[in-house]
Amino acid sequence: MNQLFNIKDKCYALSGGTGTLGGSIATYLVENGAKVILLGRSANKLDVKCDELNTINDGFATSFLVDVLNEEELIAVKNKIADKHEKLDGLINLAGGNVPGATLTEGQTILDLKLEDTKKVIEINLYGTVIPTVVLSEMMAKQGHGSIINISSMASKQAISRVLGYSVAKAGVDIFTKWMANEMASKFNNTIRVNAIAPGFFIGNQNKRLLTDEDGSYTVRGERIIANTPMGRFGQASELNGMVHYLLCEASSFVTGGIFEVDGGFSSFSGV
Ligand SMILES: NC(=O)c1ccc[n+]([C@@H]2O[C@H](COP(=O)([O-])OP(=O)(O)OC[C@H]3O[C@@H](n4cnc5c(N)ncnc54)[C@H](O)[C@@H]3O)[C@@H](O)[C@H]2O)c1
Repeated sequence: MNQLFNIKDKCYALSGGTGTLGGSIATYLVENGAKVILLGRSANKLDVKCDELNTINDGFATSFLVDVLNEEELIAVKNKIADKHEKLDGLINLAGGNVPGATLTEGQTILDLKLEDTKKVIEINLYGTVIPTVVLSEMMAKQGHGSIINISSMASKQAISRVLGYSVAKAGVDIFTKWMANEMASKFNNTIRVNAIAPGFFIGNQNKRLLTDEDGSYTVRGERIIANTPMGRFGQASELNGMVHYLLCEASSFVTGGIFEVDGGFSSFSGV
């Protein structure tokens, strides 16, 4: 069997693995023979998703109740993963997203910015990636291999109106990805890789109201995004699977510190 793309019996932890994108990725991984460890804040959602995944491949999904901003909880989870699974082949940091109060409404300006909500959105999107990565990468440092995938955004490299805190946080995720890639390869083991995926626009629970009206038609913002996406549509969650698979497996063995757009061309289009 070709080992280049093999992910069978590998063990991957996913934060946000019960969300729109994380849930889809978790299903894909289990369907393709990998084991997943879901990290999340809702026991009920974790149970439901784990049951769904174990129906696909019995015993391939486990979960831990953990807030990714809580270092102590994460250390306890790391110890349990080490006991139960012995190794951790990868980590995908999907916990994040916007905080409603941190999004300016139509017509508001920077002068209306709610600083407390802005801090919260920076905390979850930046530290919610930094803390689990720092804690769980210790396992990879000890075992001498691993692949970490962070989730960036179209908002990290260009100003996208109304979402300042989210943009600042995702720009932080980009440089953290590069920094961590250097650190792991040069000081621990050059088979430990750290990359990020920058998804374009995928309709999920968080951005549904920003992009679509109640009748399902696109908002003005939704229409503008489509007009600036050469492929002329939003992404489907399953369209992240190929990039996730590639970054996790041996096929990307010389790839680290990269930020990979999966965006229907949005980031490469000037709008003209
Ligand atoms: N949907 C998109 O178009 C899009 C585009 C670019 C980037 N992203 C990013 O992709 C990731 C997933 O987005 P999604 O659309 O699936 O969102 P989602 O809201 O469906 O999933 C996010 C998950 O993170 C979890 N989470 C939040 N805070 C947490 C915490 N403190 N501890 C543990 N879990 C926590 C939530 O409970 C939820 O399950 C996010 O980082 C988001 O910013 C999404």
